[in-house]
Amino acid sequence: MEKVILIAMATDRHGLEILFTREQIAERILEMGAQITRDLGGEKLIMIGVLKGAAPFLADLARAVDVDATFDFVAVSSYGKSNRTSGAVKLIKDLDEPIEGKHVLVVEDILDTGITLTYLRRIFLQHHPRSLRIATLLDKPSRRLEPIEADYVGFSIPNLFVVGFGMDFAERYRNLPDICLMPQEAS
Ligand code: IMP
Ligand code: MG
Repeated sequence: MEKVILIAMATDRHGLEILFTREQIAERILEMGAQITRDLGGEKLIMIGVLKGAAPFLADLARAVDVDATFDFVAVSSYGKSNRTSGAVKLIKDLDEPIEGKHVLVVEDILDTGITLTYLRRIFLQHHPRSLRIATLLDKPSRRLEPIEADYVGFSIPNLFVVGFGMDFAERYRNLPDICLMPQEAS
């Protein structure tokens, strides 16, 4: 009985079930930032966010790393307006700054099939960065279609569709402060 009440309370203002609270997310991002800072050993970093979903994560992660960091953003289209992947990725906004010879951290909201990050990694490597690492807030390893792993993972989750903290369902819910579950019938 107690458990039922607890689950019923763990919903956000839209009645969506919360998977990770804003506090849990904040704590995990601080840990990730500390790890990235250690790994860089005082070197400069360029953080490349994948629009739009990674924007809130990048904003928090950038403030959690204690290094001289700059930002850039790319945008890709892969899911269109639904949550089904077409398998085709198109770059719709390229980098603004050269990354040659720089330490690059690609910042993504979710690593799902791996198609998006495999594509981005391939085109970024063509610019010869000094190093290229990937930070993803969420990882769904069971969904992978391409053999790619992130260097930094916030949370590993099973095959669930989530929204909030940047992540959307048909462009909605990106501004939810917690990461919530999208009911199966909707996704
Ligand atoms: P991938 O190319 O399949 O790895 O797709 C990664 C992208 O799919 C992410 O950047 C998200 O935009 C989107 N995506 C995958 N799973 C979810 C989810 O559960 N909620 C919202 N977006 C998702
Ligand atoms: Mg995305």
